[in-house]
Amino acid sequence: MYTQLQMRDSARPSVSLSTLERMKASGEKIACLTCYDASFAVLVDEADADVVLVGDSLGMVIQGQDTTVPVTMDDMVYHCKAVARGLQRPMLMADLPFASYPNRDVALANAVRLMQQGGAEVIKLESGPSQIDTVEYLAGHDIAVCAHLGLKPQSVHKTGGFRVQGRESDAAERMIANAKSLESAGADMVLLECIPNELGRRITEALSVPVIGIGAGPHTDGQILVLYDVLDITTGRKPRFVLNCMQGASGNLDALQRYVRAVKDRSYPAPEHGFA
Ligand code: KIV
Repeated sequence: MYTQLQMRDSARPSVSLSTLERMKASGEKIACLTCYDASFAVLVDEADADVVLVGDSLGMVIQGQDTTVPVTMDDMVYHCKAVARGLQRPMLMADLPFASYPNRDVALANAVRLMQQGGAEVIKLESGPSQIDTVEYLAGHDIAVCAHLGLKPQSVHKTGGFRVQGRESDAAERMIANAKSLESAGADMVLLECIPNELGRRITEALSVPVIGIGAGPHTDGQILVLYDVLDITTGRKPRFVLNCMQGASGNLDALQRYVRAVKDRSYPAPEHGFA
């Protein structure tokens, strides 16, 4: 049984946390994409993305909601299962949706659901000081955890919109301190959304775990974008950090390969994709 698993992986070994740690140490950029179904998962895998996130952004891009707040655990498990069926090499990360981690025991039960029913390998949660105990608890139950800092879409009704975070120096210092506390609590990865480039650099250098950015500048260990933005499927106003890879591409797979290449050769993100 173990031999079979090892043989299955030998041609194209699956990405694990240690792969990502090695990439951080060697300076190879980590290319990540969101994904919500099996067909696109096959393409994202073929394009050689390292990490695939079943994000609660599915509430907006799949369900047509205005925010991620209405997304439920059932929604997450459904999409995670579908994506897991299409993937072989990339590491599969999934979001705990809004109000699914009000305390550590509920968080554990929902993380276990995402892993056992959905096939997730890493659990991401929007994090701050109130989640430190939960992160420690999940990590203590051998769950790989990604702490999401910066713009936290699940808090949009409280924070008043989708805005760049950490621009003021006290907010920046708080975010660095939070990131360090979450790492000490056992977070295996950190994801930074919509923060100034310089803050992205400071947090990445302060942590030993891999740091993935979206609108967080060129210095993070990896980049993630919403699949439908990369494929230019999303309509309406796009954030400045979006890279439309369909321009000049021969099709979806070519576009996804262009994205992975652009992350790996550091041509994405360019200065115009970042925030000061
Ligand atoms: O839900 C999501 O897709 C995310 C990404 C934007 C990072 O959290």
